[in-house]
Amino acid sequence: MLVDFRPHSRLRGTTPIDITTALVPVVEALSEGSTDLSKVRLVCDWVQYKENFRDVVDLRPILSRPERLPGADPVVVPVGVREDDMEIAVDVRRSAKLPLKEHAAELLREYAAGDTGGRVLLEDWGAGSRSCIWSFNARYWADLDLWEKSTGRGYEQALPGGESDARNHDAARDLIRKLFAVWDPLVDTGALPEELYVVELGVGNGSQAKVFLDEFRALDGEHGRGYYRRLHYLMCDYSQHVLDLARETVVEHLAHVSSFALDATRPRTSLGFLRWKVFLVYISNVYDNLPTDEVAQLGGRTYQVQTRAYLPPERAAELAEQARTTPGDVGALVHKLLRLGPALLAEAAPAHFADADAAVAFWRAAWGAVRLEERYVPLAGLDTYELAPEVSGEMLRPLLESGADVRMHVNNGALASFVDSLQLLHPFGTLICHDLFVTDVAAYRANFRGPGKYDGSVVNWVNGPLLAHVGRRHGFDVHYAPFAHRSGGNIITMTAQVRD
Ligand SMILES: C[S@@+](CC[C@H](N)C(=O)[O-])C[C@H]1O[C@@H](n2cnc3c(N)ncnc32)[C@H](O)[C@@H]1O
Repeated sequence: MLVDFRPHSRLRGTTPIDITTALVPVVEALSEGSTDLSKVRLVCDWVQYKENFRDVVDLRPILSRPERLPGADPVVVPVGVREDDMEIAVDVRRSAKLPLKEHAAELLREYAAGDTGGRVLLEDWGAGSRSCIWSFNARYWADLDLWEKSTGRGYEQALPGGESDARNHDAARDLIRKLFAVWDPLVDTGALPEELYVVELGVGNGSQAKVFLDEFRALDGEHGRGYYRRLHYLMCDYSQHVLDLARETVVEHLAHVSSFALDATRPRTSLGFLRWKVFLVYISNVYDNLPTDEVAQLGGRTYQVQTRAYLPPERAAELAEQARTTPGDVGALVHKLLRLGPALLAEAAPAHFADADAAVAFWRAAWGAVRLEERYVPLAGLDTYELAPEVSGEMLRPLLESGADVRMHVNNGALASFVDSLQLLHPFGTLICHDLFVTDVAAYRANFRGPGKYDGSVVNWVNGPLLAHVGRRHGFDVHYAPFAHRSGGNIITMTAQVRD
């Protein structure tokens, strides 16, 4: 048996984890069952998100064969140094509060019997980025007003530090001064284009845009080169509601602002006309909110982590009662909600929901209940896995083959967005992104980095080394630094510029 205790730093300090209560009950459950103990991984994490997709103890099958590739290609079975059958995963933040042994034994029994334990499955197995949790995420941003009205909380309260660093005036001033420093010599040589484009992806309530535009106007007033007159600030988001909200926030600057309803993973679909023209692509707290797969290198083999969303039986029963239906029909109602949104759902299904508020309550309860099962499926070869359009899975090799076993995010949505955005940048342009980045592969071996739930949305930290590697391959220098204007936070600023 292989035991991987990741949150080792929590074994020390004022309230150290008691490793025996986290591990021994699970080992006892395993030893009393019939599982081949030589083929078990026992993995402990500290899942810091109070709301998340995991149970306190989960069982993850490890498949021995890759899925069949499209077409008639024979399935290649890569060879590893260990041939594990399953991973048992324990969240040690919560494990002391449960009869862990009974839970683990129950999971092992269900697994041996091929039983789903009464779970209501919301989808079939697939890559994490294709899970319906991303439809929940999109629904949250589309109907943010209904959610916020129901909770009485704004989305920013769930962000690290309780408000977005995008509102930070010092950070905006720094950035604007750097833009001016690039533009001044271009003006002097007549090389500065008339139109000065700034693109923001994922605008939220528009605070980032407002702070930038207010500071830009003020600094330009002092600087005296008339840049504000030439400025075009493009606010982009996939939620029309959010875009409308942001427009109200920047009402004083509307002559310089345009809004685009677009998917941040493919900005060029609407902004293709700006290729090589944008001086700043500005992003905050968005990459960690874009769909992602996870991959793992275990025992010398590479796996994709496949997921399957489900509702635990007792939660499905509560939801059924709430919506005046049966647990077996709850899944269909959830999918209808994701397609229509709560307001239309209430109209379309009056037998289940008295009004929109009842549909919102169902939405919130369903989101609170949703969990992810996971399993490991061997990848036939990294080259067969496209991480993002035209980004080969081979980009993962140096990260996965960097030493001991590791599991990491691919951040396919962030990667796609990043690569696409680079092609918008003017040769003297910059992409700035404030977000939760993992900057060192080794950190994946010690820390849980998502997925977690922020109110109605999903959060996963972003694989910084992967983005940097891909950026370099595209001719860009990519740097990470702690967000300079707040101490003690987790936010990192990524800067990407054409390599000198
Ligand atoms: C956490 S908010 C961040 C808002 C703002 N940038 C800030 O820092 O406060 C994430 C924003 O990204 C948007 N978003 C998420 N996924 C998106 C996608 N695929 N395409 C476009 N916008 C997306 C959401 O609608 C939301 O406005």
